[in-house]
Amino acid sequence: MNLQGTMQIGADGHLWIGGCDAVWLAEQFGTPLFVYDEQLLRERIRAFHAAFRAAGVERYQVAYASKAFCTVAMCQLVTEEGCTLDVVSGGELYTALSAGVHPSRIHMHGNNKSREELEYAIDARIGTIVADNFYELELLEEIAGRRDLTVEILLRIAPGVAAHTHEYISTGQQDSKFGFDLESGQARAALEAVQRLPHVRLVGLHAHIGSQIFDSGGFVLAVERLAGLYEQGMALGLPLRVLNAGGGFGIRYTAEDDAAPITSHIRAITDAVRRSFAARSLELPEIWVEPGRSIAGPAGVTLYTVGSQKEIPGVRRYVAVDGGMTDNPRLALYGARYEAVLANRVGERADTVCSVAGKCCETGDMVIWDAPLPEPRPGDILAVFATGAYNYSMASHYNRIPHPAVVFVRDGRATLVVERETWADVARFDRPLSYKAAYACPQGRYPSPSPGSPPEGDAGAWTPASSAVSGPSAPARR
Ligand SMILES: Cc1ncc(COP(=O)(O)O)c(C=O)c1O
Repeated sequence: MNLQGTMQIGADGHLWIGGCDAVWLAEQFGTPLFVYDEQLLRERIRAFHAAFRAAGVERYQVAYASKAFCTVAMCQLVTEEGCTLDVVSGGELYTALSAGVHPSRIHMHGNNKSREELEYAIDARIGTIVADNFYELELLEEIAGRRDLTVEILLRIAPGVAAHTHEYISTGQQDSKFGFDLESGQARAALEAVQRLPHVRLVGLHAHIGSQIFDSGGFVLAVERLAGLYEQGMALGLPLRVLNAGGGFGIRYTAEDDAAPITSHIRAITDAVRRSFAARSLELPEIWVEPGRSIAGPAGVTLYTVGSQKEIPGVRRYVAVDGGMTDNPRLALYGARYEAVLANRVGERADTVCSVAGKCCETGDMVIWDAPLPEPRPGDILAVFATGAYNYSMASHYNRIPHPAVVFVRDGRATLVVERETWADVARFDRPLSYKAAYACPQGRYPSPSPGSPPEGDAGAWTPASSAVSGPSAPARR
């Protein structure tokens, strides 16, 4: 059973989290419900700080990768625990700033940041922008130049190391949409390009090699490769001071996941930085990491209510819950595996093999295949462990299913940090079908009618409505 942090089985046979009965939480806040063990969240972060201290590294940052789970309360909590924040969109930046995170403690990723997002980030004076490609470098120069500012950036490098769980591959991961490729010389060209940008100051290098990584070898190799590039940057006179090894530290979803303790990953990274920088007679840089899953993942539990069942004799027993791929798309996306219990009957023998299905109109909408549970009954509360990362943040409105509520629990108290959406919330941006206030497409902008457009003189429904508003100018056809 994947009990972590304050999770325990009470004398009543119920699952308790943060001193709260999970069954009571389900009654109080409804299901599906995301429950976060606040103490465990804090402990996970403190483990990173302790690991850096144990490695004797003073200049470091633990930048929480907010994509794993980004809400105002979470941004506040990680900030209280001394994390900086990695955001990857205008929406995540907005959330972080709304939470009161100091802009200087935020850095922004993204392989296709829009002009609007870059302007927002620069105007907010965030700490650094992690530039991903040459187009972005040009945009940054233009935006910063117009404001007569200098923006500090890291370069995202694709170091040719791919890592996932127990394996890493040291070549072949060139083929990624992210970052400047090291192997082909793009990364070196990026260093030279930055030199020519008066409003962009390159302060460091970054690599993120994968997710759910158990073996530190990939981090070590990536650090060594970044160190080589760092040396080239220093030789060019660039003011480098940061080496960011990214996130990806694995967690225990099921008993088969033997996730290494954070200390050993951090020790491997810091040792590799020390070694490879000393070998090049370079001053030790600030070491940054960007954990998301390893902070938020283990602390989250999803509570569902059991509903219908379907037994196919000799084949399988399906047990359906009131959520599914809309609050946890990870099984559908990656075949992710989870463990679960019936929170109201944890003490009972788990002697029925059930496949937990969601409620969406999609065959692949499964939560767990072949979970051992006590014979489930409608109304039971199913608790799925380790759902704190990339679940709520990846939630969708498929089938117009509202997003669940989120609570943090601590010392016997529960606080609602994200309200449950309603059906009305899901439809709130819809507008009735009417052309009374329609946008009229300006006519005559294109040299010839496109195939399928109505023949001349047969304007029909294409006639601009009399009360129509002129739309934004359409881009010229290429
Ligand atoms: C650039 C970057 N940093 C950090 C992370 C966080 O990874 P994880 O949640 O696996 O620690 C990701 C995840 O995709 C990422 O792309």
